[in-house]
Amino acid sequence: MKHSLLCLYAALFSLTLCGCSDDTEMDILDVSVPDGYALSAGTSTIFLNSSKAFDTPADWVSGAFATRFNRGDRLYDDVRTGSNSYGGGLGPVYAGYSCGSCHRNAGRTKPTLWSEGGSGSTGFSSMLVYITRKNGAFFQDYGRVLHDQAIYGVQPEGKLSVTYTYETFSFPDGDTYELCAPSYAITEWYADSIKPEDLFCSVRIPLRHVGLGQMMSLDPHEIEQLAARSNYPEYGISGRCNYISERGVTSLGLSGNKAQHADLTVELGFSSDMGVTNSRYPEEICEGQLQMSQGSMMGLAYDRLDVSTGDMEDVDLYMQSLGVPARRNIDDPKVMQGEENFYRAKCHLCHTPTLHTRPRGSVLLNNTQLSWLGSQTIHPYSDFLLHDMGSEIMGVGLNDNYVSGLARGNEWRTTPLWGVGLQEKVNGHTYFLHDGRARNFVEAIMWHGGEGEASKNIFKNMSRDDRDALIAFLNSL
Ligand code: HEC
Ligand code: HEC
Repeated sequence: MKHSLLCLYAALFSLTLCGCSDDTEMDILDVSVPDGYALSAGTSTIFLNSSKAFDTPADWVSGAFATRFNRGDRLYDDVRTGSNSYGGGLGPVYAGYSCGSCHRNAGRTKPTLWSEGGSGSTGFSSMLVYITRKNGAFFQDYGRVLHDQAIYGVQPEGKLSVTYTYETFSFPDGDTYELCAPSYAITEWYADSIKPEDLFCSVRIPLRHVGLGQMMSLDPHEIEQLAARSNYPEYGISGRCNYISERGVTSLGLSGNKAQHADLTVELGFSSDMGVTNSRYPEEICEGQLQMSQGSMMGLAYDRLDVSTGDMEDVDLYMQSLGVPARRNIDDPKVMQGEENFYRAKCHLCHTPTLHTRPRGSVLLNNTQLSWLGSQTIHPYSDFLLHDMGSEIMGVGLNDNYVSGLARGNEWRTTPLWGVGLQEKVNGHTYFLHDGRARNFVEAIMWHGGEGEASKNIFKNMSRDDRDALIAFLNSL
């Protein structure tokens, strides 16, 4: 089967090359796939097995696009300062000091949850902590995200702390595994303490930046058809779409752990995560906070935008033009056995192996088209749909009680698994799931409940050898 797939890729490649009349649009690409690798995103696939695997441009990035890519890359990684000059605008309260501070190497910066029990007293946590009242309303003095960092002279809004409850479970064959259920609290509120009884708090570790351009080029109809068709009552699986309505336009939600965003959230990232104002979010995130009018803040002017739309478009372009790492070790017998087991356990009913991008590719903030991303066969291992993941396991399951658009507390977007096997190499840790509670692949799978329950149980009932093979397959993605 793998052989015929490769032939199909080869055929697609030659079609693309023949159909390419405009050389400035499509550079001639090396079509040969090295032994043991498999394409994951057509012309954007890169054959890298290193810490740079998420943070390298696709081969088609050249000329003026390369200049803009490199600018976007710099803007993404440059440490923002609190000053008012170019590259400044950080804070006064913030969660990260650059996009790359949380998405190191375009990946998932190691969270401080496990090493420091939450935000930690020193250093920086790399997480986003969403806070609401139990009735869903935002806290007037805090906003949507808890900003646990602040520039000099300003108090952070509060600090996250986590405690874990540990429980050991057994596989039918006698092997054991442990799950850790997190319990979150917020301490050191800068102003009025919020009573724990009135607080919902959802913790997110960053998402890997693998295949973002491909995700933005998906054909919404293909995803909607999956939602309409992906009813597998025998396995209790039925995904649904999230939709976002903004300024009178309704679009399909694709990005974020609850598919709560229709785009790559560049403007929101600058504003909400870093306090860097821009044309879409011109207000400081702490607007209205008492400390804004206090002495220490008086020297700073807040009446101009900290980052331009052109800069943000280059950041958008940078993320969308990143290469997607190829699958590795595909001829390893253990990996091949694991791939079969992935299908046997029905993982593929949510982690959809193959999707397609629409004919013309994606469109950036200022309407620049990235046509290279169009008409590609891609392997994201996600249906980009919401699934009820249950609330039962250890009395909580994956439910965070946090509503995002149409997504309820127990609903999560299927995480795309492309690149998941490289996370350890890129970011030096194997924490998985939206809040990093899983310390390895086995724990990530064993937290699947709700619609994932039947699939999880097939994995659970496999022999140790078959479970190990499935993990070897995940490591090849
Ligand atoms: C404080 C840490 C932090 C900072 C700073 C940050 N992010 Fe993120 N990012 C996250 C987290 C956490 C998520 C997951 C959010 C969720 O699901 O609610 C995320 C999600 C994303 C996603 C969605 C990816 C996907 O696969 O769906 C994109 C795109 C993104 N961030 C881009 C950016 C950009 C661009 C910047 C800088 C302007 C930025 N981020 C700054 C933590 C951060
Ligand atoms: C019902 C749909 C569904 C099925 C079936 C399913 N998953 Fe998932 N998977 C999800 C969702 C949704 C998430 C995100 C959950 C979260 O972050 O809280 C996820 C997350 C994961 C993650 C963590 C990824 C990361 O980077 O954090 C792994 C690994 C994973 N699944 C593997 C599997 C495997 C292996 C199987 C089959 C045994 C499987 N899944 C079956 C929906 C599913």
